[in-house]
Amino acid sequence: MSSKPWLLLVVAAAAAAHKQSQLPSSGHSCDVAIPSTPTFDYGNFTYPASPIATTKPVSNKATPTPVSTYALHYSDVSSQFANLSSTTWPNWTPTFPLPSQSDESNPYGTAALTNLWQAARPTNFTRGIYSTAVSATPVPSKELIPPPPLYFTPHSCYKFPKDFIFGAGGSASQIEGAVADEGKSPSLQDVLANIISLAPGAVSGLLASPGSGGPVGDYVTGEHYYLYKQDIERLAAMGLKYLYLTIPWTRILPFALPGTPVNTKALDHYDDVINCLLEHGIQPNVGLTHFDTPLQFFGGSSNYLLNLAALQSSSTYGIGGISFGYSNETFVESFVNYAQIVMARYADRVPLWNTFNEPQIGCSDGVAVKNVLEAHARVYHYYKDTLKGKGKVSMKMGITPAVPRDASNQSHVEAANYFSDLYSGALLRPLALGEDYPEAFKLSVPDYVPLSKTDLEYMNGTMDFISLDAYSAPVIEPVVSNLTACATAYNKTTNPYRSFPICVNASSSVPPSHGDWSVGYSPYGSPTYYDSPLNLRTQLKYTYATYRLPVFISEFGLSLPAPPGGRLQDNLFNQPASEYLLSYLNEVLKAIWEDGVDVMGALVWNWADDWEFGSFAQGFGLQFVNFTTQERRYRRSFFDVMGFVEGRRME
Ligand SMILES: *[C@@H]1O[C@H](CO)[C@@H](O)[C@H](O)[C@H]1NC(C)=O
Ligand SMILES: *[C@@H]1O[C@H](CO)[C@@H](O)[C@H](O)[C@H]1NC(C)=O
Ligand SMILES: *[C@@H]1O[C@H](CO)[C@@H](O)[C@H](O)[C@H]1NC(C)=O
Ligand SMILES: *[C@@H]1O[C@H](CO)[C@@H](O)[C@H](O)[C@H]1NC(C)=O
Ligand SMILES: *[C@@H]1O[C@H](CO)[C@@H](O)[C@H](O)[C@H]1NC(C)=O
Ligand SMILES: *[C@@H]1O[C@H](CO)[C@@H](O)[C@H](O)[C@H]1NC(C)=O
Ligand SMILES: *[C@@H]1O[C@H](CO)[C@@H](O)[C@H](O)[C@H]1NC(C)=O
Ligand SMILES: *[C@@H]1O[C@H](CO)[C@@H](O)[C@H](O)[C@H]1NC(C)=O
Ligand SMILES: *[C@@H]1O[C@H](CO)[C@@H](O)[C@H](O)[C@H]1NC(C)=O
Ligand SMILES: *[C@@H]1O[C@H](CO)[C@@H](O)[C@H](O)[C@H]1NC(C)=O
Repeated sequence: MSSKPWLLLVVAAAAAAHKQSQLPSSGHSCDVAIPSTPTFDYGNFTYPASPIATTKPVSNKATPTPVSTYALHYSDVSSQFANLSSTTWPNWTPTFPLPSQSDESNPYGTAALTNLWQAARPTNFTRGIYSTAVSATPVPSKELIPPPPLYFTPHSCYKFPKDFIFGAGGSASQIEGAVADEGKSPSLQDVLANIISLAPGAVSGLLASPGSGGPVGDYVTGEHYYLYKQDIERLAAMGLKYLYLTIPWTRILPFALPGTPVNTKALDHYDDVINCLLEHGIQPNVGLTHFDTPLQFFGGSSNYLLNLAALQSSSTYGIGGISFGYSNETFVESFVNYAQIVMARYADRVPLWNTFNEPQIGCSDGVAVKNVLEAHARVYHYYKDTLKGKGKVSMKMGITPAVPRDASNQSHVEAANYFSDLYSGALLRPLALGEDYPEAFKLSVPDYVPLSKTDLEYMNGTMDFISLDAYSAPVIEPVVSNLTACATAYNKTTNPYRSFPICVNASSSVPPSHGDWSVGYSPYGSPTYYDSPLNLRTQLKYTYATYRLPVFISEFGLSLPAPPGGRLQDNLFNQPASEYLLSYLNEVLKAIWEDGVDVMGALVWNWADDWEFGSFAQGFGLQFVNFTTQERRYRRSFFDVMGFVEGRRME
């Protein structure tokens, strides 16, 4: 951590002028000589040229990306899929006409797809404005005029390495809409609203989402499925060069399991999305899942909704508190089958892959963790060995390594290490280092599935880089005197710390001896979500030193409530988000140049406002979205962050 230069300034200033306040100075450096008294001067007043207004639009548009070949082309491996049947399905709506008798005998026909949707019972199902892909129009130059400059920006002489990956992300269920169109079957996300009503509290951790919103429109979100051409045009106009997107399993394989038909329209759609990105100079980072597990893994289709709710409320050990279906006995084989279909199609054009998004949150027992490890490793080997992939594969950590609340106190350090080992070490040690689960995991999760020597050899080295969704570092303190005893004694009733965060406490404030301040700005007063750039550098260094792989910030961003008054201009002027993004990126620069950490890149969450699992009101977007009209508008944070990174990139 850096020293505190303002302390020296306080001491020096206090010595020079005894009447001066002892508050910390703002820290500017004064190397110009100033006279002892000011000279006052009426002068002749004239208005200066407006100091804040700009009229010149940005012109950052990237040139099309020359098509690199990152892996074999589909035609080289298509014989592997010789037995894969493909088909198309019509859109589903609640008033879908009853399918014909002949189709009913087809296990993968329209009637079967209808049955999946009927069983999912989507509440208040709505369709969006669009039902076909909209072509793009150029962004009006007026929209590309930058905002007045930020007054406070980080002072940094460091530059971003030439190949530093910078971009933004979004996930299918949160931004695409068209959930029941062109053959897509229901996923976990499409019934999330129902889960809430069936098992209140069971998913509260995930859904501690502030603001209003609610289920209405969950099925529509940003309609990116139909607006992708315009969305990509808008991102390219701002100079964005990387986009994280996810391909829903339930679009590609509506019946999820190996041997079921693949959806031709879905394959064509993502082919077009990826090509459109490349034509606009944007590189895709493709995620294979993002909390959108097919419902098939939650039991028989007639009652999977109830099974799902029961599973959430009985979540055994509370590693992540809820189940995303990873422990199902058919999960690994099915995921690998789906991943192979997707990778074989697109791997020639995709430089970066992600297997699982924040898997810790959806692993409710030890079997789930083992399955995630195994599925990831198999997909990695397929990519490298069969597809001869030269791109990079990772897995996003939702629960990131912790920092101790008081780093000078050994018991806090132990608590932080325990937390980091339990939540990220259990996945990263086997995959990055070929090492067994950490002791913290084995003690805390009694049903963990042991990893054999063969397992570890197979898993070792199947991460090309470590991905952290680094919004806010968990700040961890001890709450029990004996961590081992707490971790070993499983009893939910008598030991409240068995549930998240397990046996230790996540605190959002500095130690009382340091004044008990919040560790950072928290727009919603959330104990786990705040702006704390100084902790980021510690996390980056810990991660690099521990796992010895490049570190990627796969998500970061600030969710801001809409300002009062309802004026669009105020909403677009999201200055606290700019301050968050720039300070985090400035810490990244220090991590690279002062700490020697190989930070590979960073992706802002989100490229536009999205559905945050129950809420449309979180305002994460670099673009504001009017969910009534589906219009997008650039927020100031988009200009600020692009300027900060691209304005200081090495030639
Ligand atoms: C103000 O403007 C007048 C007329 O142009 C000029 O004579 C005078 O010197 C100016 N005063 C100052 C302080 O610049
Ligand atoms: C396709 O199915 C046939 C007949 O069941 C089988 O012999 C063959 O091995 C299968 N091919 C592949 C690539 O799975
Ligand atoms: C469905 O819509 C009705 C009428 O607007 C509303 O009362 C109900 O809460 C909605 N249900 C859900 C689950 O959103
Ligand atoms: C696991 O998934 C399979 C395949 O969809 C399903 O048939 C089975 O019922 C599931 N098992 C459990 C325990 O939910
Ligand atoms: C270290 O932390 C523990 C737990 O918070 C506390 O009880 C103890 O007093 C601390 N020790 C010191 C030296 O601050
Ligand atoms: C994992 O693989 C690396 C690189 O091949 C090797 O150096 C290391 O020893 C392996 N780890 C274990 C635990 O075998
Ligand atoms: C902590 O608990 C474990 C397991 O109950 C026990 O073996 C160990 O001796 C305890 N450690 C201390 C310092 O009390
Ligand atoms: C947990 O503790 C409670 C209260 O002492 C007890 O009633 C219950 O049987 C315990 N559960 C287990 C699984 O040991
Ligand atoms: C855990 O941290 C929270 C938030 O800082 C605090 O309110 C609570 O008192 C802490 N719990 C314990 C047992 O220290
Ligand atoms: C969305 O657009 C409609 C129609 O222009 C407008 O009435 C409404 O106020 C807008 N909503 C927001 C949140 O800006």
